Amino acid sequence: MYSKFTEIDLNSIDDERGKLFSFESMKNIPFELKRVYILTSSNQGYSRGFHAHKKLKQLIFCPTGSCDFVVEDLSKKKTIHLNSPNKGLLIEGVVWREMHNISSDCSIVVFADEYYDEDDYIRDYNDFLKILGERNEKK
Ligand code: TYD
Repeated sequence: MYSKFTEIDLNSIDDERGKLFSFESMKNIPFELKRVYILTSSNQGYSRGFHAHKKLKQLIFCPTGSCDFVVEDLSKKKTIHLNSPNKGLLIEGVVWREMHNISSDCSIVVFADEYYDEDDYIRDYNDFLKILGERNEKK
């Protein structure tokens, strides 16, 4: 089963004017891209996420600002501080994620391999643990 998160370095084209990021499906995005969504204009004090997906693959980065991504897969749980546009997070499959400490200038860009589908969401943490447990037993 897919349940994996990976921190990745995102290369930018830098010069005296600043940074340029280029993303290409099946090249530096390691899947066929179907959707991009962006979280921005965050109201302070709110966290987001609190779900996993059954199948979705996502590449996430913060071109501006910072936030803490708490991610948990089959084998580990980690808080990843996304505070540089060159830091990326690849999430594949059943990974619980929460976004905390989202700065007011934070933009979170998410590339995804599927269209929005509420049926792919696991929104209950106990269901997430149960699904991981069940799938783990079948490995
Ligand atoms: P949700 O996934 O709950 O946001 P977050 O995980 O960041 O807390 O999505 C919030 C709302 O936006 C929810 O009603 C579903 C809708 N939505 C779409 O319509 N399309 C999308 O691509 C996404 C990600 C969400």
